Amino acid sequence: MAIERIVDTVTDETPEEQEFEVTLRPQDFANYIGQERIKQNLKLAIEAAKKRGEPIDHVLLYGPPGLGKTTLATVIANEMGSQIRVTSGPAIERAGDLASLLTNLQDGDILFIDEIHRLHRSVEEVLYSAMEDFKLDIMLGKGPSAKSLRLDLPKFTIIGATTRTGSLAAPLRDRFGMIHRLEFYTPEEIAKIIERAANILNVKIDKQAAKKLAGRSRLTPRIANRLLKRVRDYADVNGDGFIDAKISDNALKLLEIDEQGLDIADRRMLEAVIENYKGGPVGLGTIAALIAEEQSTIEDFHEPYLMQIGFIERTPRGRKVTPKAYKHLGKKGEEKSEQAPLL
Ligand SMILES: Nc1ncnc2c1ncn2[C@@H]1O[C@H](COP(=O)(O)OP(=O)(O)OP(=O)(O)O)[C@@H](O)[C@H]1O
Ligand SMILES: [Mg+2]
Repeated sequence: MAIERIVDTVTDETPEEQEFEVTLRPQDFANYIGQERIKQNLKLAIEAAKKRGEPIDHVLLYGPPGLGKTTLATVIANEMGSQIRVTSGPAIERAGDLASLLTNLQDGDILFIDEIHRLHRSVEEVLYSAMEDFKLDIMLGKGPSAKSLRLDLPKFTIIGATTRTGSLAAPLRDRFGMIHRLEFYTPEEIAKIIERAANILNVKIDKQAAKKLAGRSRLTPRIANRLLKRVRDYADVNGDGFIDAKISDNALKLLEIDEQGLDIADRRMLEAVIENYKGGPVGLGTIAALIAEEQSTIEDFHEPYLMQIGFIERTPRGRKVTPKAYKHLGKKGEEKSEQAPLL
């Protein structure tokens, strides 16, 4: 089923990169690798809904960027045989925008709202009753002559995606029948995703190289696919296009991605906390100022992976760099640096 992109989400990806992602995007459960528990739950829900001839319950997907939320939304639509329309929280500026989106849906349609935590409050409130009873309450006119009107809506499904549930209002969260947190993938799953992508792109890669790339992809499909693409470029220029372990090693060195998948920005962040605050704990705002980066980028992108591999800990007093990270970066342990020499 074709995706109708009503409103583009704000993204800093190039059009070429977007096209690349779309080519590699799995269209059904069979090609959607990993996330087994979520797939099981969704398959069940889809089968039951189909049996009853009803749309599936509203679904909320959350987790760090690039783990496959948008992809999963399109997979659900395909498996349901539904039409999917795509929009995003910040793109729906007024309640009226939401009203026109919803009234243009048909029974069984799916409305995918990306970055749903960024919905305007006034829009969010209209969404509540729409999600609950498929009714739309709108106000006509202003002041004493204003009238409220209740419209019937088609039976639709909302799939919401967010990188954080924390910033989602509880009443909105409660209106989703299914809430699924996408987990980081295992290195084995990422290797499979790389092999699948290589197949689609007609790239020759051996097992060992796929494994190597998988280990440096931050356990994230989007990054795995991107790395594959960069390494393919390298292999085309510096060899005959075949990606073996040596080619991928050299390419990764050039990209300054280390064995843990950390890039320059990750390392800069860890080192800044180590050098300026003896490894912390230190607040998010301070870290952001230290490395001149947006807090949201640190929270959404850098931190989840660094926590997953045990390089950062969250404490009530802030973020702390762990001994494991010190070791990886070849830095002296915090215990030592805290023992000031006696004068
Ligand atoms: N389970 C999977 N199996 C195979 N490939 C996947 C899987 N999940 C994601 N991908 C690949 O990773 C890319 C990024 O996934 P997607 O755009 O769905 O992530 P996202 O969670 O929506 O990220 P964001 O939070 O940035 O919107 C897709 O283009 C797809 O090719
Ligand atoms: Mg997405």
